[in-house]
Amino acid sequence: MSKITVIHGPNLNLLGIREPSLYGSETLETINQRLGEAIESAGHEFEAYQSNAEHELVDKVQSSKPDTAFIIINPGAFTHTSIALRDAFLGVQIPFIEVHLSNVDSREEFRRQSFFADIAVGSIIGLGPQGYLLAAQAALSRIEAV
Ligand code: DQA
Repeated sequence: MSKITVIHGPNLNLLGIREPSLYGSETLETINQRLGEAIESAGHEFEAYQSNAEHELVDKVQSSKPDTAFIIINPGAFTHTSIALRDAFLGVQIPFIEVHLSNVDSREEFRRQSFFADIAVGSIIGLGPQGYLLAAQAALSRIEAV
C-alpha cells in the first residue's frame, strides 16, 4: 500500500464559486472525494491538502517525505511564481504530476510559464476536474509498476 497526496494551492478552496466559466462548478470537496474513492478503491492511501500560503505548501511537500509515494499538485498561481515550491520538490525527489483545471496555455502570457513543468513526471491542463482523476490513474499505474 502506497500513499498519494494531492496538494491544492491558493484560491482553489474557492472552487465552485470562483470564476466558474474557467474553473467549473465542482467544489474542492467533491474533487477530493472522487480522488479519494479512486485511490482507496485501488488499495492505496489518500490525503488531500490545501493552503493559500506558499510556506505552508513548501512545508507540506517537505513533510510528505518519506510517507508519500506520489504527489498530484495544482500549485494555482504559485505555478508561475514559486521557485521555493519548485526547490521543495527538487529537495524531496517525490515524483509528481502538475494539474491545471484551465488551459493555462490559452490564457494570459504570464500563465504559460510554469516552475514545475520541467521537473514533473507530466502535466495535465485544461481538462477541468477530470484532470485530477487522470493524474490519479497515472500515479497508480506508476506506483504499481514499482
Ligand atoms: C490554475 C491556473 C493558474 O494560472 C491560476 O492562478 C489558478 C488555477 C488552474 O487550475 O487552471 O489559480 O492553476
